[in-house]
Amino acid sequence: MKHVADAGRRRLLQLSALGLLSQGLALSPAQAAAALPATPAGTSPLRRLGASGPLVPAVGLGCMGMSEFYGAPDARAVQRTLDAALERGVMLLDSADMYGSGANEQLLGQYLRGRRSHAVVATKFGIVREQKGWHVNNTPAYVKAACEASLRRLGTDCIDVYYAHRIDPQHPVEDMIGAMADLVRAGKVRAIGLSEAAPATIRRAHAVHPIAAVETEYSLFSREPERELIPLCAEIGAAFVPYAPLSRGMLGGQVAPANALGADDFRKNLPRFQPGNFQRNQAIVAEFAEMAQRRQCSSATLALAWLLGKGQHLIPIPGTRNAAHLAENMAAATLQLSGEERAAIERLFPVGVAHGKRYTDKELKTVEL
Ligand SMILES: NC(=O)c1ccc[n+]([C@@H]2O[C@H](COP(=O)([O-])OP(=O)(O)OC[C@H]3O[C@@H](n4cnc5c(N)ncnc54)[C@H](OP(=O)(O)O)[C@@H]3O)[C@@H](O)[C@H]2O)c1
Repeated sequence: MKHVADAGRRRLLQLSALGLLSQGLALSPAQAAAALPATPAGTSPLRRLGASGPLVPAVGLGCMGMSEFYGAPDARAVQRTLDAALERGVMLLDSADMYGSGANEQLLGQYLRGRRSHAVVATKFGIVREQKGWHVNNTPAYVKAACEASLRRLGTDCIDVYYAHRIDPQHPVEDMIGAMADLVRAGKVRAIGLSEAAPATIRRAHAVHPIAAVETEYSLFSREPERELIPLCAEIGAAFVPYAPLSRGMLGGQVAPANALGADDFRKNLPRFQPGNFQRNQAIVAEFAEMAQRRQCSSATLALAWLLGKGQHLIPIPGTRNAAHLAENMAAATLQLSGEERAAIERLFPVGVAHGKRYTDKELKTVEL
């Protein structure tokens, strides 16, 4: 593990020498992009997490599957994946209090003990699990209690990005953001984010306190955010953090249909994995794999390279618990695509091409888009 610590320390020194770890610097999106340092050979290109946030490798790491949702994780493979991530810089690690009902935050807390500064940690509150199902709670009292619990599990005194996981239309978003801003003033949270929020909600929230990051599903199979959300984030200086950028593994080309998935794999219920839809989606993915082969990269690398080309403020968080997959995903940050290549990819994946919705109807009721 010493080499991981050394790599992380070198990266920290490099960033602090550039004066880029401080959070207080207010930059416009254009200034922020212009201020990005040239990438030293062998390291990942960096992107700024919000107008005045830290610089992180352009591709982050989604940690959800390390605790649940994609079948039982292998603890040693998870450890190797986290080691590989931290070797590549002070990376954005994405968690939530509901992943594994707290277990995912605990996992990161244990892993980061003694090297907290080697990662930028994002977590979320607001989805409250019940015996059967879940509900959304964004009340100010709940926000504060949830934050204390996340801090304890993560073993840290400050969360780098704290997201509202879902928006509760029953309560004014201003009240929730007010409570989150109190957490910033108390030094318990560095920056505020929203997940699956509509543009109008984001504007209302941003009027109360700067929104540093917006996390929403975005991939070749879910291109809807291109219309309004991605431009809005650029306008307000927020990072846009695409989740499920590989469409739950579909774009990586290594997934099975719903009827072959275990009961502990939540894709078993997702419309895009149901018989019929799955095969039609796979036919598109097979053509995409041929494009990737021509570029001598994996399908996952090509899908993420296309996505990164949508703006300097995009920082995708592909989920993996496999170090080799992590390397493929990070390789996207240095793969340059020509205009012709991008156009060919978009012809294969026009908006709305996916067969099946991205969530079940019940789950879709809690997203604002
Ligand atoms: N804000 C929200 O509401 C929300 C919702 C869902 C997820 N998220 C966050 O977003 C992150 C990413 O989303 P996600 O994990 O659901 O979906 P995803 O990133 O689209 O896909 C994850 C799947 O892709 C596979 N994969 C990863 N890299 C691969 C590669 N190079 N080649 C082939 N397969 C590859 C993974 O398997 P391996 O492990 O085998 O690589 C896993 O099964 C999550 O971890 C979570 O942190 C946020």
